[in-house]
Amino acid sequence: MLNAIERVLLTEEQIQSRVAELRNTLAAEYEGKNPILIGVLKGAIPFFRDITLKMPIPCNYDFVCASSYAAGTQSAGTVTLLKDTAMDLRGRHVVVLEDILDTGYTLDFLKAHLLQKEPASLKLCVLLDKPERRRVDIEADYVGFTIPNVFVVGYGLDYMEYYRNFPFVGVLKPEIYSK
Ligand code: PRP
Repeated sequence: MLNAIERVLLTEEQIQSRVAELRNTLAAEYEGKNPILIGVLKGAIPFFRDITLKMPIPCNYDFVCASSYAAGTQSAGTVTLLKDTAMDLRGRHVVVLEDILDTGYTLDFLKAHLLQKEPASLKLCVLLDKPERRRVDIEADYVGFTIPNVFVVGYGLDYMEYYRNFPFVGVLKPEIYSK
């Protein structure tokens, strides 16, 4: 597994340190607001876990599952909602937790979908932002790291459903995805 990695882009320590900062930012912003934190399956699982564990304010958890139809490493822009939120969002403060904002298709779709449920507010918090790849006009409200246009895996991010289990974010060797 590890020999598929060209280099480590973000170490486990860098990720955990930044995630703690994001947790503190969210806790300050949402004090007294009892937010609903919505994780986007599957990629956001480690980020959701680390943001929410030790969150010092009351919050609710929920999950959606979205998948963008991809051809190889390219997103085709078609997003399918495989699992919707089960909670009533009306009048609630919602924060969507996602691993990466890449082309933007997924979060653009989810934002429009969740806004139809009339939350009091809706903000997007992503661990990684890859602005060079953006295809739609969308930005996250909270960003862990802005990264260059390289194919990354680990800490929830996959290639062909593998490598999600690494505790770091690494650059995948091109020969892996150009096979
Ligand atoms: C990945 C990632 C984001 C999305 C970002 O999800 O987890 O949800 O792509 O890309 P975008 O900004 O180009 O839409 P994927 O559809 O691969 O599903 P996964 O979360 O199960 O890995």
